[in-house]
Amino acid sequence: MANHELAIYPGSFDPITNGHVDLVQRTLRVFDKVIVAIATNPEKDHSLFSLEERIDMVQEVFAPLQGRVAADSFQGLLVDYAELKGSTVVIRGLRAISDFEYEFQMAMMNHRLKPKLDTFFMMTGESEFYTSSRLVKEVVSLGGDVSGLVPDNVLTKLKAKFKR
Ligand code: PNS
Repeated sequence: MANHELAIYPGSFDPITNGHVDLVQRTLRVFDKVIVAIATNPEKDHSLFSLEERIDMVQEVFAPLQGRVAADSFQGLLVDYAELKGSTVVIRGLRAISDFEYEFQMAMMNHRLKPKLDTFFMMTGESEFYTSSRLVKEVVSLGGDVSGLVPDNVLTKLKAKFKR
């Protein structure tokens, strides 16, 4: 039987931002447990942080919520991973309208592949509206300050990557 208490929150999380953290915290108001599932594709990996680094950062951020938030990784189709974990719910955040088309396509494709799987969308908080992992990396690489947009442990690791 499917586990409706468990939601899967998939993404690249390269790195996790405060927008992601906010989404997990709000998901926990509805679901008992969330797996932050980091998608990996060894053949097309252009990530700044290694998989281990990304998992570590997520674990550190959610250490106070141990038992309710787990960090994991998966290869292959998200729908297969969700089935393996016994979850029928995928969480995704929506920021600007520009996110919508891509998210809608993924949700429809996933639903076609596994009709029992539903994607729940949540609007990101207003202060996270413009935050993305990509922008955060770009700003730090060019010497800008992203404090407040990412958790403190992530900020430290970002600065170390770019020696700021
Ligand atoms: O944070 P991102 O990069 O926007 O996350 C995208 C992600 C990881 C959710 C998506 O690429 C994904 O689900 N990848 C796993 C492979 C898969 O199932 N592809 C088909 C999606 S319809």
